[in-house]
Amino acid sequence: MVKLNLLLALLATAQANAASLGWPWSPPPTDRSNVDYPKTCLVKPNGHGKDDAQSILNAMKTCNNGGAVVFQKNNLYTIGSPLDLTFLRDIDIYIDGTIQFTNDIPYWTEHSFKFAYQNGSAFWKFGGSGVNIIGGEEGVIDGQGGNWWTEFQTNSQLQRPVLLLLDGLEKSSVTNLKMIQPPSYFNFVANSSQINYNGLTLNVTPIGDFTPKNTDGWDTYKSDLISIQNSYINNNDDCVSFKPNTTNVIVQNLACNGSHGISVGSLGQYVGEYDIVQNVLVTNVSMSNAQNGARIKAYPGRPAGSTVLDNGGGSGIVENIMFKDFHVDNVDYAIDLTQCYGGSSTIAPEICQQNPADVIIKDIFFVNVTGTTSKKINPYSGELTCSSPNVSISHEDSDIGRQLTN
Ligand SMILES: *[C@@H]1O[C@H](CO)[C@@H](O)[C@H](O)[C@H]1NC(C)=O
Ligand SMILES: *[C@@H]1O[C@H](CO)[C@@H](O)[C@H](O)[C@H]1NC(C)=O
Ligand SMILES: *[C@@H]1O[C@H](CO)[C@@H](O)[C@H](O)[C@H]1NC(C)=O
Ligand SMILES: *[C@@H]1O[C@H](CO)[C@@H](O)[C@H](O)[C@H]1NC(C)=O
Ligand SMILES: *[C@@H]1O[C@H](CO)[C@@H](O)[C@H](O)[C@H]1NC(C)=O
Ligand SMILES: *[C@@H]1O[C@H](CO)[C@@H](O)[C@H](O)[C@H]1NC(C)=O
Ligand SMILES: *[C@@H]1O[C@H](CO)[C@@H](O)[C@H](O)[C@H]1NC(C)=O
Repeated sequence: MVKLNLLLALLATAQANAASLGWPWSPPPTDRSNVDYPKTCLVKPNGHGKDDAQSILNAMKTCNNGGAVVFQKNNLYTIGSPLDLTFLRDIDIYIDGTIQFTNDIPYWTEHSFKFAYQNGSAFWKFGGSGVNIIGGEEGVIDGQGGNWWTEFQTNSQLQRPVLLLLDGLEKSSVTNLKMIQPPSYFNFVANSSQINYNGLTLNVTPIGDFTPKNTDGWDTYKSDLISIQNSYINNNDDCVSFKPNTTNVIVQNLACNGSHGISVGSLGQYVGEYDIVQNVLVTNVSMSNAQNGARIKAYPGRPAGSTVLDNGGGSGIVENIMFKDFHVDNVDYAIDLTQCYGGSSTIAPEICQQNPADVIIKDIFFVNVTGTTSKKINPYSGELTCSSPNVSISHEDSDIGRQLTN
């Protein structure tokens, strides 16, 4: 248990350091009548599905530096053109109405913000410092993902926007927000630090033939000191996923349904890149009707010029990851740790053995993982697949076998 204590100490230090910087914060005000803002901007919708992007931008500019922007209750706002909100500083944004993105695929394909990681894109992006996004009881962000999911079935190159991108944001929060129907991920947090997500409800509803695709709850990328807590997620891809260069994260008190699990990775996807995921604590999470519970996935290695594998070959490290008080219900793999991940293709064991991963996985803890699996991989409840012969698993205090039933 030496390493476990070390990890707890590291996390405590990370938390203590973070606490001195105000992380994870107590939630920002949810009732703006308690706050005396020097300026408040009420956003007025154009109505009739007309684009409100310009009015929103004006409000953000006018009330930046200490003020509040309010999307009012019982109003429908339409965003039909990209919104660059990366100039924000000390501003509280109240979403009490519905914000809906248009689903004009040709328009957005041309005009959305593009980013390199997994060829992604966004309708709008938030960056700066001291930004609190606060959802009111009736506040909703609606991505109208249906058309996007359908189009994606015949066009896998389609760049579908994420619903909420934080890019280069620090000391900020997203609280009590309800989000539905994202074209791809719900939340992408990149190039950011000290972000607290608290009390979110993320919900995907399949409509007719529209099969939701890649509706990850959260993806973290090149970000530090992130907390994600007290939220409910109903989707059909990762509930939370830690992508390259994610450090010091706490995920706690989540109920995930229908998802692919809480995942580290996939890492090592790109040749020449070094991916880091360190110091992650996932605690008090329940996972229902899902493919995976706690998951770590890395691609195998790929020698220069190899054509056997079409992905992988990157390097990196996954270190100090703890899944604690993790409960599964009707989950295929309660635990899945693999160094032979192949994306949509399955990699034959001998190919993986011949191309050991250059992503090192160390100091991983599964503590108090309980519940019932789906029987899909009966008689097993999970899998550990290492591509290198250098494997060391400590069974100290291991009671996974006893606590999980099929
Ligand atoms: C993050 O920062 C990098 C530069 O370091 C930039 O290339 C990228 O577009 C930014 N945003 C995202 C979402 O990756
Ligand atoms: C990214 O998407 C665009 C638009 O569909 C496509 O042209 C491009 O080849 C894609 N790039 C990669 C690296 O997949
Ligand atoms: C992640 O961090 C490593 C080490 O600093 C760096 O080499 C690598 O380029 C970073 N990856 C990304 C995607 O920025
Ligand atoms: C654990 O998370 C659930 C939400 O899934 C919450 O209701 C409960 O209060 C949490 N327990 C603790 C001890 O925080
Ligand atoms: C939970 O997920 C399952 C499987 O995707 C789905 O059938 C069910 O409707 C979801 N439950 C709720 C409350 O959304
Ligand atoms: C194990 O986790 C469950 C939640 O999944 C919690 O109720 C229980 O108290 C934990 N047990 C111990 C010994 O901490
Ligand atoms: C296994 O570990 C030993 C000692 O740490 C090291 O010398 C060797 O290169 C490692 N082998 C592989 C295949 O990583």
